[in-house]
Amino acid sequence: MDDDRDKIPAILFLCLGNICRSPLAEGAARAAFTAAGIDARLDSAGTGDWHVGRPPDPRAQAEARRRGIDISNLRARQLAREDFYRFDLILAADTANLREARALVPADATARVRLMLDLVPGRQGESVTDPYYGADDGFAETWADVSAVAAALVAETSKG
Ligand code: 4NP
Repeated sequence: MDDDRDKIPAILFLCLGNICRSPLAEGAARAAFTAAGIDARLDSAGTGDWHVGRPPDPRAQAEARRRGIDISNLRARQLAREDFYRFDLILAADTANLREARALVPADATARVRLMLDLVPGRQGESVTDPYYGADDGFAETWADVSAVAAALVAETSKG
């Protein structure tokens, strides 16, 4: 048994297309964990398959780049059954993603499935706004939300 490895948190960020919210959440979390000096296994996926294999939406890439974070190497993939065993925590961006993921959870899954903003004090039950069809400034709001989620994750992990 490698106890240290077992303690590395494994977190999957989930949205619909895996090209806007969850890649931004993954980028924000990677930056926050790195800044805190904490190892974490992070990934993202979508409940849908329309954008599989594609990089994040250019507007999402631009939003991350404004914060000095490069998410251009990410590629969209669809949530898979194995994800419920590979991760400790699956964080859904909105209540529809949460419902879909919960409908797929195998009985012996190891991952807990929660709403991203449930981790942020005062934001319980809220969804991360889907910026896909909106104006570009929706991405700044998405960034603010996923950054708050990333900070809450790091704080929770630091507590040990
Ligand atoms: P995401 O945004 O779920 O945050 O990646 C969306 C991406 C694509 C679509 C909707 C939302 N779509 O309808 O194709």
